[in-house]
Amino acid sequence: MNFKVKDLALAEQGELKIKWAEVNMPVLMLLRDMFSESKPLIGIRVGAVLHVTKETAVLVSVLRSAGAEVFLAASNPLSTQDDVAAALVKRGIHVYAWRGQTKDEYYWCIKRVAESEPHVVIDDGGDLHVLLHEEYVDLAGKIYGGTEETTTGVNRLRALEAENLLKYPVIAVNDSYTKYLFDNRYGTGQSTIDGILRATNILLAGKIVVVAGYGWVGRGIAMRVRGMGARRVIITEVNPIKALEALYDGFEVMSMIKASEIGDVFITATGNIAVIRREHFERMKDGALLANAGHFNVEIWIPDLEELAVEKKEILPYVTEYKLRNGRRLYLLAEGRLVNLVAAEGHPSEVMDMSFANQFLAVKYIVENRDKLPVKVLRLPLELDEMVARLKLKAMNIEIDTLTKQQQEYVRSWKYGT
Ligand code: ADE
Repeated sequence: MNFKVKDLALAEQGELKIKWAEVNMPVLMLLRDMFSESKPLIGIRVGAVLHVTKETAVLVSVLRSAGAEVFLAASNPLSTQDDVAAALVKRGIHVYAWRGQTKDEYYWCIKRVAESEPHVVIDDGGDLHVLLHEEYVDLAGKIYGGTEETTTGVNRLRALEAENLLKYPVIAVNDSYTKYLFDNRYGTGQSTIDGILRATNILLAGKIVVVAGYGWVGRGIAMRVRGMGARRVIITEVNPIKALEALYDGFEVMSMIKASEIGDVFITATGNIAVIRREHFERMKDGALLANAGHFNVEIWIPDLEELAVEKKEILPYVTEYKLRNGRRLYLLAEGRLVNLVAAEGHPSEVMDMSFANQFLAVKYIVENRDKLPVKVLRLPLELDEMVARLKLKAMNIEIDTLTKQQQEYVRSWKYGT
């Protein structure tokens, strides 16, 4: 076994957490039961770069039950749950991950995954895919296919594809309905607030909250912040359609420059760079709180904050106070990294159940269709996406209707009119 984790003595505690996640991940448990005997992934090496959480532990364990050998590194230097990483080593996974990595350590771990010569790669954010395309081109050429978990990673892969550089087919798991409609919206919506509250224990009632970006993540956050009693929820957008949608959903919409003078809490969810920067920091109220829900720590532009500050100190775990030249104090959470995974535990198991069922089915689909898939960014076939929804409903004891013969004929026909 090759691995590097913080402390193997934490394994017992990690195992309890994984067991708790299993209780709330019934679809993955069903998939484990369906494939643990036939072992469709026997002989397959899977290289995964994911947030090392109890939910990821359930996914990689199900891959292992289906026969795969799994190599796992973290997709963020600050998101690893060290007890879970230790428990995974005991479960026979090659784990290279610990919380609080330097950039060099982070890439050292990802390189261990690349050098395992995986047949299939799973990534969250694109760092593994990009590393394979830049530094392991020969290895990349032998990979059957990959998957990508998140919007930012899919955007990077589409950019590779547009420049004709993509080396293997990739299933954009993010684009499955049973992923983005639930994980991005309800998962991030709840876990982002969880992270902000665990770090600060502030009261959301009465606050003015600014959410940058009204994609699925921004929508989820805005919806949940309103539910927690925020006095005003302000959306900033660059896309006129999304801005209009936010307005019709009952939120205020304005430019970031205006919002920066008003907000008590700022949450970025755009996937873009320097969304909150110097001109915004300079206008913010004393005590304003800054949190990021996007994949990379570039949305709140920290170099500007550092330049404007005369003093910086960590006042609580994951809360850094910046005292500006104008005398005001701004509070940056989780070093501008994903607040839900750094200050809390990421999305709840119930939503990761669907996201990771998509991941499992995508890996199996790639293995079964390895010589047939075009070298493109693809979606998981709709039947598999719908299968995840059906299994989830079944696990929740929810029955739905089926079309009658008459209805099937009606919806397929052009004949029936007025
Ligand atoms: N991304 C967001 N939440 C997560 C979780 N709980 N586990 C793995 N990846 C995640």
